[in-house]
Amino acid sequence: MRAHDVKEILIDKATIARRVDGLVDDIAAESPGNLVVVGILKGSFMFLADLMRSFYRHDVHPRIDFLTLSSYGSGTSSSGKVEIIHDIREEIVGADVLLVDDILDTGHTLAFTKKLLSGYGARSVRTCVLLDKKAHRTIEFEADYAGFLVDDHFVVGYGLDYNNLYRELPHIAKVRFLD
Ligand code: XMP
Repeated sequence: MRAHDVKEILIDKATIARRVDGLVDDIAAESPGNLVVVGILKGSFMFLADLMRSFYRHDVHPRIDFLTLSSYGSGTSSSGKVEIIHDIREEIVGADVLLVDDILDTGHTLAFTKKLLSGYGARSVRTCVLLDKKAHRTIEFEADYAGFLVDDHFVVGYGLDYNNLYRELPHIAKVRFLD
């Protein structure tokens, strides 16, 4: 692991909380009856938990499931190759899926997963990310709901990690490499 610090806060806790409620207002307004929220682990766990709590305000009661995909390993750049480590168990034939990830970067992860879940017979698959690194896309892909645009630097916190560290931060911080 490279020498680094995570002192610079890019998005604070209160700003995230407000945006999460705003996203859920939009999602709930367009929400069909048979909603299944699917989180991509590990990065989405905190965002997804807050989204779920926010659905309560709208009296929307989604089912929930997770899948685990291969991640960056110990680096900070995407291989472009996505593998399923643990698949969903919930029945999604005819369901309206909201696919949740922490960050949309090259686009490979969400493009792959959206296709996978559509192939399982979902009626619709919409995508929701907390962060969108638009400048770093290598394939054409846009999320239906995106919390914040971020510039092309490595970020951690609120579920996002560097070498599986810093997921616990309540805010989004920038990783500053010192070497
Ligand atoms: P792709 O490139 O497939 O990437 O759109 C999505 C996944 O890449 C990881 N990722 C990051 N993780 N800080 C992180 O902690 C970052 O700045 C970052 N950029 C991409 C993340 O796992 C996401 O699910």
